[in-house]
Amino acid sequence: MTQFTFGLWTVGWQARDPFGDATREAIDPVEIVHRLAELGASGVTFHDDDLVPFGSGDAEREAIIDRFRKALAETGLTVPMATTNLFTHPIFKDGGFTSNNRDIRRYALRKVIRNLDLAVSLGAKTYVLWGGREGSEYDGAKDIRAALDRYAEGLNLLTTYVQEQGYDIRFAIEPKPNEPRGDILLPTVGHAIAFIGGLEHPHLVGLNPETGHEQMAGLNFMHGIAQALWHDKLFHIDLNGQRGIKFDQDLVFGHGDIVNAFFLVDLLEHGGPDGGQAYHGPRHFDYKPSRTEDIEGVWASAAANMRMYSLLAERAKAYRADPEVQAALAKSRVPELRQPTLAAGETAADLLADRSAFEDFDADAAAVEGFSFVALQQIAIEHLLGAR
Ligand code: GCO
Ligand code: MN
Ligand code: MN
Ligand code: MN
Repeated sequence: MTQFTFGLWTVGWQARDPFGDATREAIDPVEIVHRLAELGASGVTFHDDDLVPFGSGDAEREAIIDRFRKALAETGLTVPMATTNLFTHPIFKDGGFTSNNRDIRRYALRKVIRNLDLAVSLGAKTYVLWGGREGSEYDGAKDIRAALDRYAEGLNLLTTYVQEQGYDIRFAIEPKPNEPRGDILLPTVGHAIAFIGGLEHPHLVGLNPETGHEQMAGLNFMHGIAQALWHDKLFHIDLNGQRGIKFDQDLVFGHGDIVNAFFLVDLLEHGGPDGGQAYHGPRHFDYKPSRTEDIEGVWASAAANMRMYSLLAERAKAYRADPEVQAALAKSRVPELRQPTLAAGETAADLLADRSAFEDFDADAAAVEGFSFVALQQIAIEHLLGAR
């Protein structure tokens, strides 16, 4: 059974935007847990402040957590991931881990550790770090190399801490190019992967890529996920929808670039060895019910995410099982790319000695044959449309 999970902040979003007030009432996290369970979700995730309002004292915090634990026990919902809000309170206006103000950086680390301890006690295996305020508007106002040093320092502290505590949890960086900051640090999957390589405990740090965030940068989300898998860094995933390079829309999964969503689901479900799953973690929806929706629309949109994923998974299964698809893939030489370019044990000297590879190779003749990629794509779209 596919594990579908949602953040408390997704369905709980009151639809406040930079131009307008909230259009919906707040929803009690306990009610969210019950409604998500009824809709068929298997888990829920949260930022510290989604569950425990900022500034709550220890006793109040414990009471809130107890109620939440009870709701989890009643519904069977799990908490596979949690994260920290280092962006709403004005103190984080210049970031958390990378604020120019050192006291704020120390406070941010404490805020993360406080919620990390709770996350582990709830059974979370992934701790997400979305650095929405880690960035700048003005190039002269932030020493980027120092900021990356501080970002790494924060992660090194956290990875050391979880090992000291014996926690079974890993960190997942969530890239985003901009919004709320003009430019955010670690803006894409690629930047984040490179950054992880310079950390002290890179095996404990991976990625939580979000569909719309890569697409806001004009990038191909499915390619980003494939590369994250290639590096063994797909620790978690935020699924949603986005229509092109504009503000972060956080639409329902599949309500943006549906063709890319189809190939993404095909990759997650069939991209593993022997055509099995390439990613086994939760299918986490990080979307926002549009501001136009009332509470009924909130739950309808939550259900729509799961329905879209399931429909795409069904379509991808039919696509993979179709003999015409297999033939078209072969005609397009897709499986041939898995074959190494050199023969087993072949060296550069052997390649240079192979006249058929160059001297006797008829490049003009080889250039004539087409790859039939358009025909392959047409079959894929027909499957996506349910026309096959
Ligand atoms: C966004 C982000 C956030 C983060 C979340 C996790 O849409 O800009 O996705 O929603 O995922 O805050 O920290
Ligand atoms: Mn987003
Ligand atoms: Mn997200
Ligand atoms: Mn989001």
